[in-house]
Amino acid sequence: PERKVIFSGIQPTGIPHLGNYLGALKQWKHLQDTASPDTKLIYCIVDLHAITVPRERGLLTQNKREMLAALLAIGLDPTRSTIFHQSSVPAHSELQWILSCTASTGYLSRMTQWKSKLQSQSPSDTATTTTTTSHPALKHGLFSYPILQAADILLHRATHVPVGDDQRQHLEFARECVTNFNHTYAASVFAPPSTILSPARRVMSLRDPTQKMSKSDPNPASAIFITDDADTVRKKIKHAVTDSENAVGYDPEGRKGVANLLEMVGHLTGQSAEEIAGDMKGMGLGALKGRVVEVVEGELGPIRERYAEVVGREGYLREVAEVGGARARESAEETMRLVREATEL
Ligand code: ADP
Ligand code: NA
Repeated sequence: PERKVIFSGIQPTGIPHLGNYLGALKQWKHLQDTASPDTKLIYCIVDLHAITVPRERGLLTQNKREMLAALLAIGLDPTRSTIFHQSSVPAHSELQWILSCTASTGYLSRMTQWKSKLQSQSPSDTATTTTTTSHPALKHGLFSYPILQAADILLHRATHVPVGDDQRQHLEFARECVTNFNHTYAASVFAPPSTILSPARRVMSLRDPTQKMSKSDPNPASAIFITDDADTVRKKIKHAVTDSENAVGYDPEGRKGVANLLEMVGHLTGQSAEEIAGDMKGMGLGALKGRVVEVVEGELGPIRERYAEVVGREGYLREVAEVGGARARESAEETMRLVREATEL
């Protein structure tokens, strides 16, 4: 059987939040701890993806260091998992170009994330995707980054990709890139990767439970960051948007805010949201919020301590990134030899 290769990435766009943690990072750590010794584990800080959106000078450097510290704090072990910054492996960009030559623009323009960007940037309600070039705020990188994401995965010949639900469509696109490349070059260089969805597919914003919790949300009260102290967590949960009904009850459609809190507890305790709602029957939302604070603190407390300890160790962080980068370049080169052979480059 093929050697198992697990690959995933996270953007260095701020401290990871509970959605990143439950939807992806906790799973990364779990896979690391349970994978057979011959399974390859590759976790990438995707800085090339982060520059699709502008930022002030100095911030990317800081965000990259903080993300690396966060990955170590959640328990990734750099001697077991390859942890690296995407831009330290130029083959990510090289393979992106090669894949873009066989990728369909029609498919890209139908991507949900692109369509919502298009809509939010447009002065009028633009549901069509034909006028993209006429809008100066829409950059090509935002349009084509799913190809870079496909390249990230395929460059390491990943067999399994653990991600949150928002990435499902991009994984489908990566499989489409496999088909297009193999067909064009009559080769079987790539195999379609499988998606591993964590049980926590979509953790929602604390301020608007119809939106996913996101690093790019400008309101810091909408997310719990893994470095938030107990007091901050308590305040954010206290002000989490729920509804006017005071009793605990699980209704994911009608009571999205309460459902989000119940699901958070469930993902942290290993119970289902229904079970927790059953246990708390007759209690008020204040009690539920207290329970959320308690389980979040139980999980994040030790992570926060490790983060504080590691984030200042600049030399160590640099060394981890260098060792990871070197290992990732080796992994990439094995694939690029096959790609160059197939494409005559
Ligand atoms: P963000 O959208 O917060 O900037 P990234 O794009 O860097 O996060 O995604 C990193 C990982 O976290 C991906 O696997 C993504 O699916 C997952 N993820 C992001 N937000 C959430 C969420 N609210 N719930 C569950 N998983 C999420
Ligand atoms: Na995202």
